[in-house]
Amino acid sequence: RPDHDLVVVANRLPVDSRTLPDGATEWVTSPGGLVTAMESVMKGVDSGAWVGWAGAPGDAPDPFEADGMSLYPVALDQEDIERYYEGFSNGTLWPLYHDVIVEPAFHRTWWDSYVSANRRFARAAAAVASRTSTIWVHDYQLQLVPRMIRDDRADVRIGFFNHIPFPPVELFSQLPKRNQILRGLLGADLIGFQRESDTQNFLAAVRKLLGHHVDGQTISVPGLGAAPMREVTAQTFPISIDSASVSALTEDPEVREHAAQLRRDLGNPRKVVVGVDRLDYTKGIRHRLKAWGELLNDGSIDPHDTVMIQVATPSRERVEAYRQLRDEVELTVGRINGDHASIGRAAVSYQHRSFDRRYMTALYMAADVVLVTALRDGMNLVAKEYVASRPDLQGVLVLSEFAGAADELRAAVMVNPHDIDELKAAILRSLAMPEEEQQESMRSLRHQVMENDVQSWAHDFLERLEQSDDPHGEAK
Ligand code: G6P
Repeated sequence: RPDHDLVVVANRLPVDSRTLPDGATEWVTSPGGLVTAMESVMKGVDSGAWVGWAGAPGDAPDPFEADGMSLYPVALDQEDIERYYEGFSNGTLWPLYHDVIVEPAFHRTWWDSYVSANRRFARAAAAVASRTSTIWVHDYQLQLVPRMIRDDRADVRIGFFNHIPFPPVELFSQLPKRNQILRGLLGADLIGFQRESDTQNFLAAVRKLLGHHVDGQTISVPGLGAAPMREVTAQTFPISIDSASVSALTEDPEVREHAAQLRRDLGNPRKVVVGVDRLDYTKGIRHRLKAWGELLNDGSIDPHDTVMIQVATPSRERVEAYRQLRDEVELTVGRINGDHASIGRAAVSYQHRSFDRRYMTALYMAADVVLVTALRDGMNLVAKEYVASRPDLQGVLVLSEFAGAADELRAAVMVNPHDIDELKAAILRSLAMPEEEQQESMRSLRHQVMENDVQSWAHDFLERLEQSDDPHGEAK
């Protein structure tokens, strides 16, 4: 067996394979907060492995080395993609875990495929773990994996981290197969969540639906057959970013020039307001655009001196709710621009694409206000990236109370994005905020983000996992 200290298991590898028109394969960074965070963590691990899907249907490429870690691709065929990934993961669990913003659908064939895909990930992980490895399973697509690995490999430590919210038991109870999901998760020694409310929701579900004894953060899980009780811990670990490296990028002359160029390209407006999201209905993009459109309509904002940039990274484009969202967002942007843009100056500059880190940092440096208006979000790393990009202590973060980041980033301008009047007032207040007040708020936000980075998040999680019962039965 290979000797990996840490084996990460996630639905996606940190890179997606793309087939170019000439048939060659290109690898590009995968979307989303999970990859942003875990990529940085893995840079600090000596012999790490990452088990995941390469983002395209069909046979898995051979294992390969990248950025000092071993990548082990798992195959998903077209049917797995439709049923396990687009179906149960993103048509059932994603909306259910995000407060039912759209109605979750459930099909029994989706569940069957979820089980078989989870088994494939579990086998792949068990095959590359050595006796001393720690296996760290990530996110809602793989909730059955901890238990499946344990059934195979009782000799390794298993951690699980949920990057998205865990819903209140009243909502979670709607899920067919809910008990199988809970039992799957309870195969781990340590289960981590973003917010304290997520941890409490999970503990309540375990208590009410499985009837297990819960004492504080500790769950007593009956062993199989004659095996004794196992103790499983559920705990809150708010995820973060590689704060120092983002902050350092702002010193890069090329990035600085890029930020200045961005403002020139926009026609040197007085104020630049920015939104950056995967194009997902959980992000509150429609609410944000509604508020922006009304502010322009009622004359509170002058499109000649203030522009909005909305970066919407393409996401899950074959899932119906995402198609609909894209249509609605693009219709609204078109309408706002039709009413308020002039030749050469958009009222909303809309980019349906992804950008690299350097460009994103430049964009944050050019932003007077960043709007994070999620209706529900596990954490939201855009909020933290913006803060890390502002060592100059300028700029205002508008932050939804429904994003996990709201627990830590208390000094932001907090909003309930459902309240459009409140959102409009928050935007106007942010645009008018005196420099000193911006500095005061940004200083406090930076303190949070720079002190609590993704390295300390991973360290805390893994250290806590080390404290769980020794799988080899030796003294702790
Ligand atoms: C969120 C999820 C991740 C997911 C990412 C991108 O951040 O927590 O698990 O990978 O979105 O979504 P996708 O469906 O493209 O992997």
